[in-house]
Amino acid sequence: MKFSHAWIERNPWLLIALVTVVISIGGAVEIIPLFFQKSTTEPVAGLKPYSPLRLAGRDIYVREGCYNCHSQMVRPLRAETERYGHYSVAGEFVYDRPFQWGSKRTGPDLARVGARYSDEWHRTHLNNPRDVVPESNMPAYPWLAKTKLVPDDIMPKMRALQRLGQPYSDAEITAGPAQLQDKTEEDALVAYLQGLGTLIKTRN
Ligand code: HEC
Repeated sequence: MKFSHAWIERNPWLLIALVTVVISIGGAVEIIPLFFQKSTTEPVAGLKPYSPLRLAGRDIYVREGCYNCHSQMVRPLRAETERYGHYSVAGEFVYDRPFQWGSKRTGPDLARVGARYSDEWHRTHLNNPRDVVPESNMPAYPWLAKTKLVPDDIMPKMRALQRLGQPYSDAEITAGPAQLQDKTEEDALVAYLQGLGTLIKTRN
């Protein structure tokens, strides 16, 4: 009887301890190899840290809460790859801190929206989505085109990312603010969107 299955099941604390051990081993076996696999830790070919303008745009994306309606992750399912293109791979998000994968899709996934529309389309769409998609329920963001970026804000952001291991050189960081001179928040957001998911060729 001792150490039989029935005995373990009648000792809740022992059962909890054993279940914890089993789940920990299972978890470790699944998770630890991911830290050493090239496909999950190496950037995809051509991926670079965000340019100052795109980095500023990414912050506006986060500030405006675009992620509340848009995910940035194409799942490896046929319905998704037919609609959006190649499924997302880990190496595309190496420089995303924090990543914007999400799962809420009031609007379409944006992981591969880069280069799908013209800059002009995005500007019209952000200013009032109904002007290009009459049935759209996306909010309008007219202030983005009227608000200038604050160029000096970008240096501490780039420096923080550099400290976290992103390969920005000191020269790139010092040159950052000059690239944001006289740019609007809309310029930055459009630049950010236009680069999303373009490194993996997806559509014919
Ligand atoms: C309340 C939900 C909501 C929010 C918030 C929202 N969107 Fe949208 N978005 C939508 C919907 C719905 C659509 C589809 C209709 C359309 O194209 O306008 C869409 C479409 C888009 C598209 C076109 C995608 C495609 O493949 O056709 C882009 C780009 C986009 N949104 C960017 C943004 C950005 C950038 C923000 C933040 C500034 C944002 N959205 C905030 C709901 C939202």
